[in-house]
Amino acid sequence: MGMKTEYNDEWMQRMIEGHGHDIKNLIPILQATQEEYGYLPSAAISTTAEELQISEDVIFGVATFYTHFKFTKPGRHIIRTCMGTACFVKEADNLLELLRDRLGIEPGQTTSDGMISLERVACLGCCALAPTIVIDDEVYGKMTSNMLTKLLDEIIDEKGPKEQ
Ligand code: FES
Repeated sequence: MGMKTEYNDEWMQRMIEGHGHDIKNLIPILQATQEEYGYLPSAAISTTAEELQISEDVIFGVATFYTHFKFTKPGRHIIRTCMGTACFVKEADNLLELLRDRLGIEPGQTTSDGMISLERVACLGCCALAPTIVIDDEVYGKMTSNMLTKLLDEIIDEKGPKEQ
């Protein structure tokens, strides 16, 4: 998992058709969109507006209210640092600092080359492993600055031909 599909308007129209052309289905439509693409592409928003015959402003208003919707494309890799209590007392903030420095971005942002998004999350449910970091879908426990640096080196080196 990790990589999401490219935007496809036919898929979008079929999905909306499946839910029904009614504003009451807006949230499930946005949810399905984000599940498919990892965010809400602007083309998806205009198609949704057209199909439901509502303005794009209404959609933005609703989607902004529910904070889990994203309007920008996530990076190829997503690094989540746990800032829950157990991880925090094990100095997870040092790890976050390291990530900020190395990537030059804040949580909620993506590097300008589109490679890495950084997120901070509340408890990941594996406090025994604190401090915990999730890279894409893999959980790394008992994280140290050295381990994290190595993992970052691997991700940053990897942007060779195999993934382009
Ligand atoms: S606080 Fe980080 S996994 Fe629970």
